[in-house]
Amino acid sequence: MTESIHPAAKLRGEITMPADKSISHRAALFASISDESSVIENYSRAADPASTLSCLRSLGVKISKEGDRVEIEGVGRDGFLRPEAPLDCGNSGTTMRLLGGIIAGSGVRCTLTGDESLSSRTMKRITDPLTKMGAAVSARENLYAPLEFSGHIKGGIHAIRFPLPIASAQLKSSVLLAGLFGDDETEVVEHIQSRDHTERLLGLRQEPYGDGKIIRSSRSDEIPAQNYRVPGDFSAAAFWLVAGSVHKNASIRIPGTGINPTRIAVLEVLKKMGANITESNPSFEGEEPTADLHVESASLTGIELDPALIPNCIDELPVLMVAMCFAEGISKIKGAEELRHKETDRLAAMTDVLKKAGASIESLPDGMIINGNPSFEPNPSVYESFHDHRIAMAAAVLSLSGKKVSSVKDSDCTAISYPEFWSHLKKLTITSL
Ligand code: S3P
Repeated sequence: MTESIHPAAKLRGEITMPADKSISHRAALFASISDESSVIENYSRAADPASTLSCLRSLGVKISKEGDRVEIEGVGRDGFLRPEAPLDCGNSGTTMRLLGGIIAGSGVRCTLTGDESLSSRTMKRITDPLTKMGAAVSARENLYAPLEFSGHIKGGIHAIRFPLPIASAQLKSSVLLAGLFGDDETEVVEHIQSRDHTERLLGLRQEPYGDGKIIRSSRSDEIPAQNYRVPGDFSAAAFWLVAGSVHKNASIRIPGTGINPTRIAVLEVLKKMGANITESNPSFEGEEPTADLHVESASLTGIELDPALIPNCIDELPVLMVAMCFAEGISKIKGAEELRHKETDRLAAMTDVLKKAGASIESLPDGMIINGNPSFEPNPSVYESFHDHRIAMAAAVLSLSGKKVSSVKDSDCTAISYPEFWSHLKKLTITSL
C-alpha cells in the first residue's frame, strides 16, 4: 500500500498510544516460564509481539487472547514441548534474541526463523555468549537465522560473567534469560545503560559497578507472574512529540504513555532543543512509570547528541533526525553505528528520506550532520519505507510539515509496531484552516 500525507494546517487532538512493544514481548515470554498464570491487559496488537505469542504457542504454552487481554498459563522453566515446525519470529529481533536465550537455557530442540530483514541481521552477538554458556546452537554462516538449537553441549547451562560488548538490551536480556537456567550466577556487566524492562519485570538482582551496574540471574530466581496493564509505547509517542514540535500549529495530548527513564532520552533531547512538552499525571503500570504527555509547537535549536544517550533513544533516532531538520543551526549524531543493524540500515534509509525532502545533511559512517532550518519546507516526495516501520513513520511526520502532498510506499509496514499510525495521523490532521 501507498499512503498519501496531506500537509497539515493544524495538528490537534488526543491519541492513545499502542501498547509498548518491548514490555509486551517480555510480559508474554516471562509469563510463559513462570510457574504461575498471568493476565496481561492491553497486550500490543502489533505484529512483532504477535510473533512472540505464536512462537510460545508452538512451544506448548496455553495462551488465550480476548481483545487486548492475554491470559498465559506458565509452564515453568522446564515445561516447553519440542515444536513440530520451525518457530517464525517474523520481523522481530526482540522475539528471536530473547526467546533464543530462553530456548538455549531450557535445552528444548527447535529452529528459529525470521523474515528477510530479520534473517539478514547478525545473531552472532547472542550465539557467541549462549554457546559459551553451554547451549548447542548454530547459525547460518555462523551469523544469521535460521538458528538451530539442539540442547546443551554437556551438563546444562554454565554461568558466565559477561561484560556487554555493545549497549543492547536484546543481548543483555538474552544472556540473563539463559542465566535463569544455570545453577550458578550469570553476571552481566553493563557500562552504558540500555532499556531495563527485563531487570524490572523479572525483579533481577543488580548492583552498581563502576560507572555502570552488574545484573545477576540464576535458577534460584523465582520468575514472577506478569499481571499488569502494558503502558502506551513511548517510542510510538516520539513520532507525535516531533510532529507537534516542528509543526507551526500543533497541540497533541498523549495520555498513559510509558516513561521508563531508560527509554525517554529523546524527550530530554527535544526539551534541550527548545521543545514545548509537558508531562502530567505520573503513575505506574506494574513496575513501569507512565505519564500523560502534551506537546505544542516550538522553535527548536540544533544540538550535538551525547553518544551516551544513544541506547536510550535508539529507536527514536530516525524521527529525531526529522526534528533536527527543522532546528536552527547544526545538529550532530555520532556513535550511532547500531542503526545500521536494525530492521533496515536506518542511517542509509534516513539519508535517502532526508535528501529526497531537500534537507541539508551529511551522512557519516556512524551518524549524521544536519544543517537545520526552522522554515524548512520538505519537497513533496514519494518516500521509500525500506519495509521499516520507523522509517515509514518518520517520513510521514516530515511530510506533515510540507506544502504539498507526499506519499510513503509500503505504508502497511507500520503494523510492526503501530497499527493505528495512519488513522491517528488522519485524526490529528486538520487540512484546511
Ligand atoms: C529492544 C531493544 C533495542 C530496540 C528494539 C527493542 C528490546 O534493540 O532497538 O526495538 O525490546 O529489548 P537493541 O537492544 O538490540 O539495541
